[in-house]
Amino acid sequence: MIMKKKVVFSGIQPSGNIHLGNYLGAIRQWVAGQDEKINFFCVVDLHSLTVPQDPVQLRHETRSLAAWLLAAGIDPEKSTLFIQSHVSAHAEGCWLLNCVTPLGWLQRMTQFKDKSARQESVLTALLDYPVLQAADILLYDADEVPVGEDQKQHIELSRDIAQSFNYRYEEEFFVVPEPRIPATGARLMGLDDPNDKMSKSLAHRRGHAIRLADDPKEIMRSFKRAVTDSGNEIVFSDDPDKAGVNNLLGIYKAVTGKSEEDVLADFADARGYGDLKKCVAEVVIDLLTPLQEQHAKLMDDSAELDRLLALGAERAAAVSMPKLAQMKEVMGLVLPAGA
Ligand code: TYM
Repeated sequence: MIMKKKVVFSGIQPSGNIHLGNYLGAIRQWVAGQDEKINFFCVVDLHSLTVPQDPVQLRHETRSLAAWLLAAGIDPEKSTLFIQSHVSAHAEGCWLLNCVTPLGWLQRMTQFKDKSARQESVLTALLDYPVLQAADILLYDADEVPVGEDQKQHIELSRDIAQSFNYRYEEEFFVVPEPRIPATGARLMGLDDPNDKMSKSLAHRRGHAIRLADDPKEIMRSFKRAVTDSGNEIVFSDDPDKAGVNNLLGIYKAVTGKSEEDVLADFADARGYGDLKKCVAEVVIDLLTPLQEQHAKLMDDSAELDRLLALGAERAAAVSMPKLAQMKEVMGLVLPAGA
């Protein structure tokens, strides 16, 4: 029997300050799975517009993020890498899925509740954000969505939306996707507050995140300032008081790929948290230096970058536009003559 290759879809917002959490929680999994599967990776610029953006900055961040993904090892020969707004099926698909999504499902999303609580004026698009995300995934009949822990609820909503559509219109029309969350690195915490997730929107705060663009000195400084506790025990632990040390060990484990025992053995002779912080900083600097060099090269040749992204958009559209047409058809819309 011929096994059908699994389809993978994932996305990332070009909201600036891409950080180590994005890399270890998501991008590294995307790169690792490229050979066995059919992959779509998307720079979700329309999602970024759900909060106000400076247009010049957004355009720059979108290209820069695509360059980071390539620098991290996304191979345009093996994977389809594209910008969301280049493929109109995403926005249109979102509208159609809005028509099978009850409002209450969106109002319950924890990210919406958190983000809207922090803003004076909340845009409609912020509430609708997870429906656009569902369109991204469902238009490609994705089986798997590799993401960090914080996206789990959104992927579960995509499953609910797929099932709602299938129930109303046609059984098995959409593949119901599964989240794929890594065993380590799925939730990096802020270095300045280890009880709060490392996040792009806080990455401007000194010492909060390790940004992929940070130079070695900045990385060392951020780790040295990392909040720990008043003790001296280097152990993996669920105790909220030890969240800082736990986060540092988790980063070390994710970067080196070592087991917990081997990680602890590396620190058996450490003289306090200073040694721990320095060692973690060093493995992170070694990880990021080659990525930074590659990113700089790619940013120097924007024509080549744009060419690759245009190619990606063409390949993505070849899959998602026909699926969108099928959606319209089963929903009872009149397709234009000749379509
Ligand atoms: P975004 O841009 O916030 O994050 C991109 C990826 O990074 C993961 N991530 C983390 N992983 C570990 N530790 C952290 N502190 C951390 N912070 C972020 C996220 O889980 C994510 O996998 N809504 C999505 C983008 C999106 C998408 C999609 C994802 C749009 N359409 C379709 C999957 C499929 C988001 O805002 O990710």
